[in-house]
Amino acid sequence: MADRKPFVGGNWKMNLHGDEAVALAEALAEQFTATDKVDVAVCPAFPYLAKVADALGSSDIKVGAQDFYIEPNGAYTGEVSLSMLKDCGVSVVLVGHSERRHVIGETDVLCNEKVHAALEAGMEVILCVGEKIEQREAGQTDAINTAQTAYGLAGVDAEQMSKVTIAYEPVWAIGTGKTATPEDAQNAHAAIRNFVRTGLYNNAVADGLRIQYGGSMKPANAPELIGQADIDGGLIGGAALKADDFCGILNAAL
Ligand code: 13P
Repeated sequence: MADRKPFVGGNWKMNLHGDEAVALAEALAEQFTATDKVDVAVCPAFPYLAKVADALGSSDIKVGAQDFYIEPNGAYTGEVSLSMLKDCGVSVVLVGHSERRHVIGETDVLCNEKVHAALEAGMEVILCVGEKIEQREAGQTDAINTAQTAYGLAGVDAEQMSKVTIAYEPVWAIGTGKTATPEDAQNAHAAIRNFVRTGLYNNAVADGLRIQYGGSMKPANAPELIGQADIDGGLIGGAALKADDFCGILNAAL
């Protein structure tokens, strides 16, 4: 849909220590010229959020967090609240990244609670969905994506959906160098959008919803992926750790 503004996120995961994170943020702030044609966010590790926000300065690059806890404060050892993240300049949060679902063990129920908590706190949400290789091979790609989408968005109003982006990240494509073909990715995105249109919301929500692709997106394959009708940007891991690569992908989205 031509009039959806692409959204490109850099998920730095558990990479880049303080100076490296700041240097990358400074390089991005310098190389990325503000434009109203693409939304951009980077998600550093918790300890460097505030430093990265400072380094991004007045650039239009938003600061995102890779995770948070649903409660506002209290006895939740090791957790970080949404208001703490806001203090650090965060305005976007990831929910349900496959590494949190499959490595840390987050459930669909917790993902849904996180979506609600983040929207109530005024954050933008990137809800991640995607199938594992054995699910793909069993022909379950669309079933997994629609189930994770339905669970994640349960109880979310149509009006709140303007603050939600979905990231389709096939688990087998993350960090492996294996990218979904543009056709496969397009089919998965179209199925998610169709489900949002007919199973969850309506035409307006489905047509406005941005669906990012994530999984070994690089400057070389980004133009063809982002060129697909239902792919509205990317959620980038490895290639987000280098300013030139990330900016190459941003240029593809422009
Ligand atoms: P890679 O780009 O390294 O495959 O990671 C994708 C991802 O998980 C972004 O959230």
